[in-house]
Amino acid sequence: MSNIRGRFQKDADKLVQQYTASIPFDRRLYQHDIAGSMAHAKMLAKQNIITDKDAELIGMGLVSIREEIETGKFQFKEELEDIHMNIEARLTEKIGDIAGKLHTARSRNDQVAVDMRLYCKEAIAETIKGLRGLQSALLDVAETNMSVVAPGYTHLQRAQPVLLAHHLLAYFEMLERDVQRFQDCLKRTDVMPLGSGALAGVPYPIDRAFVAKQLGFSQVSQNSLDAVSDRDFVIEYEAAASLVMMHLSRLGEELVLWSSAEFGFIEIDDAYATGSSIMPQKKNPDVAELGRGKSGRVYGHLMGMLATMKGLPLSYNRDLQEDKEGLFDTVDTLLSTLAVFAGMVKTLKVKADRTSQAAGQGYILATDVADYLVKKGLPFRRAHEVVAKLVSYAAEKGKELQQLDLGEYQQLSPLFDASVLDISVASSIKARNAVGGTAPEQVGTQLARARGLVKSGGGGY
Ligand code: ARG
Repeated sequence: MSNIRGRFQKDADKLVQQYTASIPFDRRLYQHDIAGSMAHAKMLAKQNIITDKDAELIGMGLVSIREEIETGKFQFKEELEDIHMNIEARLTEKIGDIAGKLHTARSRNDQVAVDMRLYCKEAIAETIKGLRGLQSALLDVAETNMSVVAPGYTHLQRAQPVLLAHHLLAYFEMLERDVQRFQDCLKRTDVMPLGSGALAGVPYPIDRAFVAKQLGFSQVSQNSLDAVSDRDFVIEYEAAASLVMMHLSRLGEELVLWSSAEFGFIEIDDAYATGSSIMPQKKNPDVAELGRGKSGRVYGHLMGMLATMKGLPLSYNRDLQEDKEGLFDTVDTLLSTLAVFAGMVKTLKVKADRTSQAAGQGYILATDVADYLVKKGLPFRRAHEVVAKLVSYAAEKGKELQQLDLGEYQQLSPLFDASVLDISVASSIKARNAVGGTAPEQVGTQLARARGLVKSGGGGY
């Protein structure tokens, strides 16, 4: 911190410099930091706090620093601690003392808060785009496999047949809630903290609304103490990201199961699978597994930030610098997982013969037979009992329900007539035609609704 040494007799110990520096990771905020500084300088000139000429010089200096950074010519220095000091020091080298006027009516505390909010707003937009991409991939697979039936499960036991598209659309719904969570979190991130100063506000006639407008914020913060010490928006991003990763982890788990020989429901495209270094026959679903695994580190960042914040007295404390690495890693992990999952889903091959074979086995139509008896006037609990007996009878004979003849049905209840033999996977699916059910008509409606949501970009509820 050589250039703000001030009251200190000597530089910080080398280890201390290393320990406290954030430049190794906060350098990625350079664009946001420069954008914030440009808007601030413009405002200072508009309010006659600095001259137009000074503001122009500062602006030009910042533009050329941005170029230096983008062309790899900028020398980041650890002893200058963070991105804010690195840029300011370079600006001083370039335009001299005038650079010092930029920090009028500002502190690094409101400066880093504005940088983080600008970064988060961009990350939210990218995240929503990523979610939409994966949603589209799910819809593509659902659409091309509209007639494919599969077993639906509870307790990982075959329960009732469903359309595979219905199953895939369940993930669409999860991701739709995720989109809405990020849209909601954006509202509270979209608040401009500059003008809060170090903590108490600033004694200059600043125009905060002007700065907000320049930077694309829709509101300005209303309490300076809160504004410099609030990181709720980071936690909200991490919380929403954790939910997405939980959804992706569940999807990953299903793709792992489905691509195993035991299920054999799908084949993952070669481009999204890996081989084994020792077993030549292996095709491993590593992408799905890593998506599942990486959910853990994202949850960890959420927990870490909650723990960092919990004991902090107002207002700014250096602990807040710990917000960055976890957030950056959360964003990187989430965006890359969304992108790679979209590719994996879009290219997976459905083995319809296997799913439909599985959908016809395991007494999966037992509920339909019970519903049949209910329609004939039997209370559901009684019907359940009759069909349970029917299933154990069939199991003893080594047959599926569909393989029993009418006489065998009638041994268990006189309510059965020849129409019971019409019960099939297709009739079971078609019958579930209330809103949200697996009938082709409902799934078709949901697919069209989902396409509309992805297209409009809006929320679905
Ligand atoms: N590197 C710091 C952070 O990320 C910037 C703000 C420093 N402010 C301070 N008063 N030391 O939080």
